[in-house]
Amino acid sequence: MKPFSFALFVMTNVAIAANPTSATTGPTDVTSICEAIEATVSSVSQVYHYGPEYDNDIFHWASSSTQHAACSFDPATPEDVGIALQILGDNRCPFAVKGGGHATNPGFSSTTGVQIAMTKFSEVTYDPQTQTAIIGAGLVWDDVYAALEEYGVTVAGGRFTGHGLTIDTVQAYELVSPNGEVVNVTESSDPDLFFALKGGYNNFGIVTRFTLKTFSQAQVWGGTIFYPWTVVDQVTIATANFSANSTDPKAQVIVLYNYGAELVPFISAMLFYDGPTPSPGIFDPFLVIPSLSKDISTRSLVSLVRSFPSNVTEGQRGVFNTISTSGYSVELLQEFASEALYWGTQLSPFSGVLFSYIVEPFLPTIFSHNATPSAYPGSRERGLFPLAIYFGWMLPSSDELMRNATRMSAAKLSEKAISLGDSIPDAPLYNNYAISDTPLERMYGDNLQRLRSIKQEVDPNNVMGLAGGFKF
Ligand SMILES: Cc1cc2nc3c(=O)[nH]c(=O)nc-3n(C[C@H](O)[C@H](O)[C@H](O)COP(=O)(O)OP(=O)(O)OC[C@H]3O[C@@H](n4cnc5c(N)ncnc54)[C@H](O)[C@@H]3O)c2cc1C
Ligand SMILES: *[C@@H]1O[C@H](CO)[C@@H](O)[C@H](O)[C@H]1NC(C)=O
Ligand SMILES: *[C@@H]1O[C@H](CO)[C@@H](O)[C@H](O)[C@H]1NC(C)=O
Ligand SMILES: *[C@@H]1O[C@H](CO)[C@@H](O)[C@H](O)[C@H]1NC(C)=O
Ligand SMILES: *[C@@H]1O[C@H](CO)[C@@H](O)[C@H](O)[C@H]1NC(C)=O
Ligand SMILES: *[C@@H]1O[C@H](CO)[C@@H](O)[C@H](O)[C@H]1NC(C)=O
Repeated sequence: MKPFSFALFVMTNVAIAANPTSATTGPTDVTSICEAIEATVSSVSQVYHYGPEYDNDIFHWASSSTQHAACSFDPATPEDVGIALQILGDNRCPFAVKGGGHATNPGFSSTTGVQIAMTKFSEVTYDPQTQTAIIGAGLVWDDVYAALEEYGVTVAGGRFTGHGLTIDTVQAYELVSPNGEVVNVTESSDPDLFFALKGGYNNFGIVTRFTLKTFSQAQVWGGTIFYPWTVVDQVTIATANFSANSTDPKAQVIVLYNYGAELVPFISAMLFYDGPTPSPGIFDPFLVIPSLSKDISTRSLVSLVRSFPSNVTEGQRGVFNTISTSGYSVELLQEFASEALYWGTQLSPFSGVLFSYIVEPFLPTIFSHNATPSAYPGSRERGLFPLAIYFGWMLPSSDELMRNATRMSAAKLSEKAISLGDSIPDAPLYNNYAISDTPLERMYGDNLQRLRSIKQEVDPNNVMGLAGGFKF
């Protein structure tokens, strides 16, 4: 049985938001800058004005993050990235850098100027000697996992825990500086810039390659279970128990309280064990609850990741927002469930498709894996777990309504979490889930001063300020 479908909303071509940024360079001039880039870069890099490559370059997971760029640029070498950055900087031309294109904040990796798409940086090179892998900046994680599978290793990418934050496993960045120079940044070559790049997004230049630590990887266990809302209390109790009592770094669950397109609430749980068979008991509380469907098995990591329903709302408009907790009590989880019901009911009539409250109960040791300082998180004093609030919808006219609603919901839940002792006032927020107007202090805390001075040093002409995003 398919627990939910999107039959109510036939996928129509929803107009892309024409949302001109405060351009320092007008549209006609941008066209001439596109031509200048095309004329100056090497023949392996491409500029597109329309067509399938252009469409692919401006494409985002959430269509509300897509803008019509004057042209797209697919660099194939760091040197060509450098040439483009110099031309863009000299002409004060707005641009954007897109890696995976998963940002839901409009303008963070989209522009009406020049869209740089990193797709041609798709290298995956494993070095067994150093147990590292070089990863191109245009890849998505499942392709990285797939390429590393034959070596029996993986990297700590999205959706997985046990090894801490991905940034804690970075050994080196190949960076095109705002002045066009290509440099390799490591802890020993440039500790300031290395710190800044670990969580600092596009403020310091454009990253072309990452060198990541690898971990040996064999068969894993897990998959997805869909539950009807009638068992919401049982899933909540199991989730609170897992959050409070699970200590095995190989075990992880992600639980989603959802309100879907067919005007029904439902729950989904993604279970993961980093080994072929979980110790008995860890997941039993989830497995015994009556479900709508259950796709759990021992499988490869790639098979598991590809089985997760991460793409069901791809192409729709969407927003993420977040609060941070240090625990998930039954009472707090019940509040998430009730928010999903409330906003789902309120906002479905406004072309709402999916309303999810995504619970990721990591271990409190999540911030203890780092060897060197990083831009994010602002403080490593205590482990924090990000709740992701995700709303998906169809119509551009609902954009502000939906974004506002996630702000109201986050404010309410944050207050509730504090009152239950599950959070503290001003708990640092996870930048990957934070909505666009989140104050920088809430994500970067005391690191912000240092980040601002590094930024000033590396990019005195504020070339990277021509690209959107969280800006230092
Ligand atoms: C289905 C889904 C699942 C997710 N799951 C997780 C998860 O498990 N864990 C998690 O942490 N997050 C998760 N996220 C959030 C995601 O990690 C963030 O949105 C992240 O910023 C996406 O990176 P991207 O390169 O795909 O996005 P993009 O939109 O391409 O870029 C995001 C930002 O990074 C900048 N940037 C991109 N490439 C470069 C580059 N080469 N050099 C310099 N700056 C660059 C962009 O300019 C932009 O500001 C998920 C998002 C979605 C949609
Ligand atoms: C950066 O390091 C990579 C991998 O070691 C190397 O191939 C590349 O040439 C280096 N780039 C620079 C600018 O030193
Ligand atoms: C709590 O989790 C443990 C395993 O960590 C399990 O043995 C126990 O049955 C769970 N209790 C409930 C009420 O889910
Ligand atoms: C954690 O486990 C203990 C002992 O089994 C149990 O009493 C407690 O209720 C559990 N915590 C939660 C939140 O379920
Ligand atoms: C999800 O969509 C991306 C494109 O955004 C694609 O590369 C990937 O293969 C898709 N994954 C699955 C499991 O369909
Ligand atoms: C969103 O919130 C802002 C600020 O509170 C308000 O001005 C605006 O009218 C709201 N828009 C919608 C569509 O709710």
